[in-house]
Amino acid sequence: MKRKVGYAVVGLGVGKRHAEAAAKSENANLVAVCDLIQEKLDKIKEQYPETLIYTDFDEMLKNPDIEAVSIAVPSGMHADFAIKAMRAGKNVLIEKPIDITVDAALEIEKVRQETGMKAGVVHQNRYNADMTPMHNAVVNGKIGRVLFGDFAVKWYRTQEYYDNGGWRGTWNMDGGGSLMNQAVHTVDLMQWLMNSDVESVTSQMAIYDHKIETEDFTASLIKFKSGAVATFISTTCAYPGISTDIRVYGTEGSMEADQDELKLWKFKGAGESEEKEMLDKYAGNGAAAALDPTLCTGHTYVVEDMINAVLEDRDPSIVPMEAIKSVRIVNAVYESARTGKTIYFE
Ligand SMILES: NC(=O)c1ccc[n+]([C@@H]2O[C@H](COP(=O)([O-])OP(=O)(O)OC[C@H]3O[C@@H](n4cnc5c(N)ncnc54)[C@H](O)[C@@H]3O)[C@@H](O)[C@H]2O)c1
Repeated sequence: MKRKVGYAVVGLGVGKRHAEAAAKSENANLVAVCDLIQEKLDKIKEQYPETLIYTDFDEMLKNPDIEAVSIAVPSGMHADFAIKAMRAGKNVLIEKPIDITVDAALEIEKVRQETGMKAGVVHQNRYNADMTPMHNAVVNGKIGRVLFGDFAVKWYRTQEYYDNGGWRGTWNMDGGGSLMNQAVHTVDLMQWLMNSDVESVTSQMAIYDHKIETEDFTASLIKFKSGAVATFISTTCAYPGISTDIRVYGTEGSMEADQDELKLWKFKGAGESEEKEMLDKYAGNGAAAALDPTLCTGHTYVVEDMINAVLEDRDPSIVPMEAIKSVRIVNAVYESARTGKTIYFE
């Protein structure tokens, strides 16, 4: 019988889903959770009476039964919490974005190497069923040479969503608005599906419909080193939450998805039956997350992957150097929008 990994979670917003995934895993025990809000801790205690509750993260890290911690506090705190945990001998699974600056993310990677701990980052949308065939079509050459992509995160969030918690839509804790928070998943998918490093980013941003410090709309033109180009739109103003468009076009075919729902699959030489089969097989839940933040799925898979990484002594599926890519692109978008200049990557 496999041994069980002692698991903990800090931050009980989306962190609740990490806690539930660890609690129901056959390969882990939910040893402890930590939050500043007693009511959230009490709810977990009700659900899982064996689980210890903490209001002080440093105290929780002293618990020797904890081997891995999910870091689900506001984004601008990720590096501080992850670094503390790794220095205390714990493996970490960090919510997206890895942190809000490239420097903070690089610091996480440095400490990972120094301590030998494992570090994974939550970009669960890569595991939406339709993303595997789309990614395979690119890396196996089915789509030919990737020419252009078209990505748009047309979501809706209320003012109340931003007011709740006080950190959303702030530069110092959220690191941005619709792009850094909601669309960073799709930025990750874009750089993964376009299968090339970014060469340059040219962007604009605006605050259209919320009282926030950051942005609720960005539009970018992204050029890749391969010569391909992508357009990228992010917004939390598209009432009532429309779609997450993920579209890639190559010399041999075209594919389009709305988040986890494949919408178009057309390849030269492939018959209509192939398209029908693919659309039937990858008919997902479409724009669920565009409407409601609680409907993002995929945490069970990511937490299980972290647990298995500890048991099998391997890296988690998405490591810091991979997660840094989307943070670098997001920050380049902001810099371009602020300065009115095209930002070139090295
Ligand atoms: N992967 C996804 O789909 C997904 C979805 C939502 C949020 N997130 C990410 O998860 C993170 C948290 O977002 P959220 O929406 O859950 O926020 P939230 O505000 O709902 O929850 C954050 C929690 O952290 C707690 N906290 C803050 N400081 C703390 C401290 N010093 N010690 C202990 N607890 C502390 C707060 O009390 C709060 O309960 C963000 O980085 C966000 O980008 C990811």
